[in-house]
This record gives sequence, C-alpha cells and structure tokens, in this order.
Amino acid sequence: MYKTLVIVSLLLSFSGHCADEKDVLKTIKKFGKELKKELKKGLKKSATEAIKVCHMKAPEITLKNSNEKIQIGRVSLKNRNPNNVPKEWMLSYIDDFYRSGNKTGYKIVDLGEKKGLLKPIVTMPLCLKCHGTEISEEVVKEISAKYPNDKATGYKTGEIRGFFWAIYTPTKPKKE
Ligand code: HEC
Repeated sequence: MYKTLVIVSLLLSFSGHCADEKDVLKTIKKFGKELKKELKKGLKKSATEAIKVCHMKAPEITLKNSNEKIQIGRVSLKNRNPNNVPKEWMLSYIDDFYRSGNKTGYKIVDLGEKKGLLKPIVTMPLCLKCHGTEISEEVVKEISAKYPNDKATGYKTGEIRGFFWAIYTPTKPKKE
C-alpha cells in the first residue's frame, strides 16, 4: 500500500508542468548523448555524410528532447546554424563562463516565473574535423553549402564550443 502511494505520488510529480534542476540536467545529458550517437554514426561513413546527418538530425533531436516542462537547445557566440544565436538573457552568463574559465559547471538563471540553465560544451578532438582550425576542402564545401554564414570554425581542443541551454518552470517557485 505504502509502495503504491509512493509510486503514485512520484508519477504525479513527474506529470506536472514543473521540473527541477536534476530533471533538466538529465534531459541535457540525454540530448547530448543522442547528438553524439548520430554524429558518430555519420562519421563512420565520412565527415561530409556526418554534416548531412547533423544538418537534418540536430534540429530534430533538439525538438524531440523539449517538452511542456523543459525547452532545450544549443547556442554559440560563433554559431553554425543561424537559429543558435544566444538569447539576450544568456549573454552576460556566457561572458562569465569565458572570463572565469569554468567549463565543467553550469549556471542557473532566474527568469521570473521560469528558470534558465546554461552548461558549456567543450571542444574535443572528435569535433575538430568540422569546428577546428584545419578543415578539409570537402568539409568546408559541404558546410558552406548548408551554412553560408557559418562562424563555427577555428576551435582548439578544450575550448568552449558553445552551450546547452534550458528554460523550465521550477518545481518550487520562489516566494516573493
Ligand atoms: C561532421 C561535422 C561535425 C562534427 C565532427 C561536429 N559538429 Fe558540431 N555542428 C555540425 C553542424 C553541421 C552543426 C549545425 C547543426 C544544425 O543545423 O543544427 C553543428 C552545430 C554544433 C553546435 C550548435 C551551435 C552552432 O554552432 O550552431 C554545437 C554546440 C556543436 N556543433 C558542438 C560540437 C561538438 C562539441 C563536437 C564534438 C563532440 C562537434 N560539434 C562535432 C557539424 C559537426
């Protein structure tokens, strides 16, 4: 009986329109994993094939991982996809991440009724083929065909490539 009650109350708390930090971090982790899986699948064929996959799948995976509780996405000051320009509320926090050199933490931002979360995405060797300083001619061609205003190159391993972001309604709204 007690067990049933616990399960029911757990289900109820998950089915509301609220989320907490842990849910958001979990959602972002899952999102990142799915992106990387598709990327690696594409790279097995070729870098140009992987660009096609990212071009098609990244926006789709982003939408799929957003719901009524948590909206998520990726942004960068040097974005590839024109939709990935940071929003106004993100700018000063992005600046803080660069200034402090903090690449492993995350930041919760108060947005009134909602909260925002930003988490740096760090460049790894795997990323350099399409975001690095020496990019093959065929990759450049494929990228500029799909993203004529691409800014997302010139990165080195360990640098911040961009940020995961989330907006969510916290489970316990702040009392005035
Ligand atoms: C095969 C080429 C390729 C590789 C390798 C690659 N990316 Fe990308 N990346 C892309 C493409 C294409 C987009 C644009 C996707 C879209 O249209 O939403 C992108 C977009 C992004 C974005 C969203 C911001 C923006 O610029 O639009 C981030 C962040 C990002 N990549 C990080 C990484 C990281 C970190 C790695 C390594 C783990 C990586 N990428 C590896 C091709 C690549």
